[in-house]
Amino acid sequence: MSLITIDSLVKGRNVHPDEAPRIVALWDEIRQLKRERNAFIPAHNYQAAEVQAVADYCGDSFELAVKSRAIASEYVVFCGVRFMAEGCHTLAPERPVYLPSLDALCSLAEVDEDDVLERQEFLRALGRDFSTMTYVNTYASVKALSDSCCTSSNAATIAARLGKRDILFVPDQNLAYQVAIKTKRMYLPPPDPNAFHPKEYRALIDPLIREGERQGLSGCVFAWEGACHVHHEMSERDIHVLRAQDPEAVIIVHGEVRPELQRLADAVLSTSQMVKYVEAHPEKKRFAVLTECGLIVRMELEHPDRQFYKTCRLCQYMKATTLENLLETLRDRPAERLITVPEEVRVGAARAMLRMIELAS
Ligand code: 13P
Ligand code: SF4
Repeated sequence: MSLITIDSLVKGRNVHPDEAPRIVALWDEIRQLKRERNAFIPAHNYQAAEVQAVADYCGDSFELAVKSRAIASEYVVFCGVRFMAEGCHTLAPERPVYLPSLDALCSLAEVDEDDVLERQEFLRALGRDFSTMTYVNTYASVKALSDSCCTSSNAATIAARLGKRDILFVPDQNLAYQVAIKTKRMYLPPPDPNAFHPKEYRALIDPLIREGERQGLSGCVFAWEGACHVHHEMSERDIHVLRAQDPEAVIIVHGEVRPELQRLADAVLSTSQMVKYVEAHPEKKRFAVLTECGLIVRMELEHPDRQFYKTCRLCQYMKATTLENLLETLRDRPAERLITVPEEVRVGAARAMLRMIELAS
């Protein structure tokens, strides 16, 4: 049961009082239809607060993937972005999954399979002993090329358990840094985006590989050239300004922010780990959480006794879901919003996602 109410939304100035009756009417209609049609609504922690309020389950991308396998309802209307809905279908293909808006994409997910195959071939030619890990923020065809998927909550654990010296980490270059630090591997920065030149790339990484060996590190993390446009835009200055203004505030960042910010923060966490961190520290009163705004709004509503600095940024893809398109999808089940993956690709992606679930626990 969500703690988000219309009163808390109005009080928190997230909803204008004139808008409240319209939102309550939409909530009533969605809840009634959901019961009548036996539908399930999962939502990512970044969804708008009024969408999270009617969800059956809210979580980070790992929790949502795990939940996908335990949904008994007739169909799912997934309030998140496309790769999440696709992951839900991948793990339980017998049950239809709909996405309320086809604009709900992700700036990390557009990775070309051929580029991944080329990079794997390059590493094989170098004689590297590596596993390919793909962040769940990818589509099924890329997941299928990997040894295991991961999310921001378990990337380092999985890298440590895959049993290979090196990791090819696709596609988030910043989370790749987090994996390198936590597993004591050398971080190898990505090549130039959209211009992989093996010679130039070797000139970049060879001295770093030697340096890693000199330091006795346990291997290397080869970072891909992807980044989340929301988190990658955050700058060190954001943290310096905050620290100067309030040295006592706890600064939490998502693993998708740049390495410099990860080094300056008090904690680097996934979205649900951020929620748990705030709950576990009642003595801390002021937080700056550098991630997408949907999560901060929810934390403010759930913890009115705490203060959250407005350091967040909006992800337009997460905000493509509205109560209107959610209701429409629940009611009409438009064929074009049904998310499917060709079976031969789905099988490979499911293998990588299941490996993640197994290794993370
Ligand atoms: P989480 O796995 O932490 O929920 O992150 C998903 C995401 O899209 C971050 O931008
Ligand atoms: Fe993708 Fe970034 Fe939006 Fe998350 S916040 S869905 S990683 S674009």
